[in-house]
Amino acid sequence: MGSAVWLFLLLVSIHIYIIAAATNPDDASALRSLMGEWKNLPSNWGTGDPCDDNWVGIDCSGSRVISLQLPNMKLEGRLTGDVFSLSELQDLDLSYNEGITGSLPSGIANLKKLVNLILVGCGFFGPIPDAIGSLPQLRVLSLNSNGFTGSIPRSIGNLSNLYWLDLADNQLGGEIPVSDGPTTPGLDWLINTKHFHFGKNQISGPIPSKLFSSEMSLIHLLFESNRLSGALPSTLGLVNTLEVIRFDNNSLNGNLPLNLNNLTSVHDLFLSNNKLSGPLPNLAGMTNLNTLYLSNNSFNSTDIPSWFPTLSSLTTLMMEDTQLTGQIPAAFFVLPQLQTVVLKRNNLDGTLDIGPGVSNQLEIIDLQGNSITDFNNTGGPYTFELILVDNPVCRETGSSNTYCTIPPTDSSPLYSTAPMNCQPYSCSYGQSSSPMCRCAYSYTGTLQFRGLFFSDLRSKTPFVSLEQNLTQFFKFPEFPVDSVSLNNPRMDPYQYLLLDLELFPYSQDRFNRTGISKIASAFSSQDYKPPDMYFGPYVFNGHPYDYFSDAPAHSSKSSTGIAIGAAAGASVLFVLLVLAGIYAYRQRKRADRATLESNPFAHWDPKKSSGSIPQLKGARCFSFEELKKYTHNFSDANDVGSGGYGKVYRGTLPAGELVAIKRAQQGSMQGGLEFKTEIELLSRVHHKNVVSLLGFCFERGEQMLIYEYIPNGSLGDSLSGKSGIRLDWNRRLKIALGAARGVAYLHELANPPIIHRDIKSPNILLDERLNAKVADFGLSKPMGDSEKSHVSTQVKGTMGYLDPEYYMTQQLTEKSDVYSFGVLMLEIVTGRRPIERGTYIVREVRTLMDKSKSLYNLQQILDRAIGLGTSPKGLERFVDLAMRCVEESGSARPTMGEVVKEIEVIMQMAGMNPNAESAASSATYEDAAKGADLHPYSDESFAYSGGFPLSANKMEPQ
Ligand SMILES: *[C@@H]1O[C@H](CO)[C@@H](O)[C@H](O)[C@H]1NC(C)=O
Ligand SMILES: *[C@@H]1O[C@H](CO)[C@@H](O)[C@H](O)[C@H]1NC(C)=O
Ligand SMILES: *[C@@H]1O[C@H](CO)[C@@H](O)[C@H](O)[C@H]1NC(C)=O
Ligand SMILES: *[C@@H]1O[C@H](CO)[C@@H](O)[C@H](O)[C@H]1NC(C)=O
Repeated sequence: MGSAVWLFLLLVSIHIYIIAAATNPDDASALRSLMGEWKNLPSNWGTGDPCDDNWVGIDCSGSRVISLQLPNMKLEGRLTGDVFSLSELQDLDLSYNEGITGSLPSGIANLKKLVNLILVGCGFFGPIPDAIGSLPQLRVLSLNSNGFTGSIPRSIGNLSNLYWLDLADNQLGGEIPVSDGPTTPGLDWLINTKHFHFGKNQISGPIPSKLFSSEMSLIHLLFESNRLSGALPSTLGLVNTLEVIRFDNNSLNGNLPLNLNNLTSVHDLFLSNNKLSGPLPNLAGMTNLNTLYLSNNSFNSTDIPSWFPTLSSLTTLMMEDTQLTGQIPAAFFVLPQLQTVVLKRNNLDGTLDIGPGVSNQLEIIDLQGNSITDFNNTGGPYTFELILVDNPVCRETGSSNTYCTIPPTDSSPLYSTAPMNCQPYSCSYGQSSSPMCRCAYSYTGTLQFRGLFFSDLRSKTPFVSLEQNLTQFFKFPEFPVDSVSLNNPRMDPYQYLLLDLELFPYSQDRFNRTGISKIASAFSSQDYKPPDMYFGPYVFNGHPYDYFSDAPAHSSKSSTGIAIGAAAGASVLFVLLVLAGIYAYRQRKRADRATLESNPFAHWDPKKSSGSIPQLKGARCFSFEELKKYTHNFSDANDVGSGGYGKVYRGTLPAGELVAIKRAQQGSMQGGLEFKTEIELLSRVHHKNVVSLLGFCFERGEQMLIYEYIPNGSLGDSLSGKSGIRLDWNRRLKIALGAARGVAYLHELANPPIIHRDIKSPNILLDERLNAKVADFGLSKPMGDSEKSHVSTQVKGTMGYLDPEYYMTQQLTEKSDVYSFGVLMLEIVTGRRPIERGTYIVREVRTLMDKSKSLYNLQQILDRAIGLGTSPKGLERFVDLAMRCVEESGSARPTMGEVVKEIEVIMQMAGMNPNAESAASSATYEDAAKGADLHPYSDESFAYSGGFPLSANKMEPQ
């Protein structure tokens, strides 16, 4: 080798050496071991040095890593000790990665410098550790939209620098902790905190009067949709910094404190849906009040208060069913910003005189179900909606007046960003047309406003203002964003405004990881602030982005950290290089030998049928060459699906029979022994509701399984509208029954019995007659005789379907499959993924469900494609069964055999024969793919659902 080459090598080595020294070795090795823990890390992880080579998501100060921000990266894995050894870390933001799951370990307390801990919309569950209170610098703690359980740790009271506390949308229970003496902390100590966001949990008990004091600086106090009881303490009236107060949807009772009136900065006051009683206090002092929600309480019967007209900023008054009496004074409707007045089901009487000079923003006055006898229209023609249905005035004069009929729901389109003087293209699949009429892979998410200062969703002004504000904020070059689009404002059952947001990439057709992470963290950290004229507190839920222009890093299990002595000179490096070469060669040899030893087929000749391992029943061994031929060299055209394990190809056997070939990718292969066990197990499973294994291939380092080909894709594809098969109620019942029979077979008849462990809609396949077939046994466990009742295993499965009991105890039983099956049933009736936009389906149904109402009050989340108009027979009973399957304790859940029987009964109620072979053939894969008009959520059902994009229920192939 010429000396020039050596010199070059030396320079390169020295260069590497210098880079290696840049990041503190402990930090570097912590990050490197994260690469073995987390899937889908950005691609430049692992190359060079974290700080010097700007690993995406890392920020350093000197040699120390101070920031780890990777929101919306589709990361998968758990929070482990590796993160906690980044001892100088100030920011940790992993928001919108549903695949980051498990508990929040107490090791978090090692991060003494942490300022921002932001884990919005991940898959965490279990209790929030007490150790959270040992982070003295913490300013922002956002753990909202996860599955945290247990109670609010009182240690949070120790976080004296806390500015933002968001624990909303979890499953937290217990009471609100307040301090008790100088050593027992509580939330009342948080006098510097401005945000208490606790909505959508199960917090119970009374609101301690100690919680509030005049020293506090809270502006947002959100406890909506919990289980609080008792009275609202009068100490609340001392916190005069408050701007938004929400205690709606609890069980509060007793009188409202009189000093609420002292809270003059409040814009939003939500107290509806409680059991508040006593007199209505005078709120005349709340002159900044925009919205007042008091509906559905038990206040003392009182005349309509004379102080209403003094609330000069009021836009929205909701006082449905609040025992109001008397005649509405004409002066009532002159408030200049008034948009919505709902006084349904009170005892208002006399003549209604709206008078002249009403607000030109007035949208609706709803006075249904009162005792109003006359309408004196001195104000002349009016443009708002007036509803007097179910008042004497309508009974006496007949119903010829428009105000005597319920107006049809306004079907004029809601706000939607318009194209900027251009013709939108129709874009290819996955892309959408930007306001500039360019097709690109946009980044989408949902903005959820928990407080609003207006109520008229048809008014454009607030949305235009928000759109301009967003466009200004996310403009190039600070963000790689070209334009912003807002769509489909709507209120959800929790009185939150939801808005679909789309951001389009600047000068590219897609975002890279850095771009998405930058945008997502502007939202997760609340750097972005919406116009405060109209919008109160918000959260953003970023949807997974499937189109990154850069690939993820290959996860590597523990790569050796670079630890080279500081005094290493050039010659030492040379020696090291040589040694490294020898080492690598040896390792390779050793690895080759190990592969040979662990391969149970190594000395097995598939052509000899006698006395051979593996022992297969009805499955055969295919050669690699054969499969290559059957799939046209594994061509893209034959690629019919993919997932974490690899790809699925369609193949055609010489006789014309179609097969599905599941080819494991490098990195997701099992050991040879496991592979053998799996095919032995699978070859013994034969049932019409279970996908049959036809053969396997174990050659050239490949692991492939060959199954019968199921033409109609998965249930997940059909529910999401991807496959083009419309599933009405009868079809759904039939599929549920087939799937239940398949799982019951695995539990009760297979020998040995099998626990599937990954029951979910992408694993239920549909044949040409829509017979359900259970597929994908990748995680299945046979039950040995010695351990009949449970198997202790490392917890595996898919978030959203995972049995919480199994997770806690790590004891796998058949009942874990029953839990997943219950989730699947809920998916069947709602068409939603189990975890979608941060909400968990089991919880959603449990919260909304009201057995006294028709369809159990679930209309708003049931899938409209079922055809709700014809009230599907047995649907309630189906939901009952699903809810029993997702009971917390396994022993309270039915067995799969019982599930099968119950679904059979439900089918009979619906007039179906559970044992009939349905003749109804449906579109096959190919047909559906060709004809876009077969799409079940095409234009037709868009109109049907009032423009709500059901097709947003995208189901990801697993
Ligand atoms: C109302 O607030 C003022 C100051 O903000 C305070 O002086 C007064 O005592 C309060 N009144 C009540 C009833 O709390
Ligand atoms: C409100 O109603 C309660 C119970 O009905 C009664 O005891 C109380 O005196 C009433 N208060 C007023 C101010 O009318
Ligand atoms: C209607 O209202 C006007 C003004 O308030 C009043 O002069 C008139 O007598 C009222 N008419 C009826 C029929 O009540
Ligand atoms: C958006 O609105 C907020 C609140 O009104 C304001 O503070 C912020 O500066 C605005 N952002 C931009 C980029 O205009």
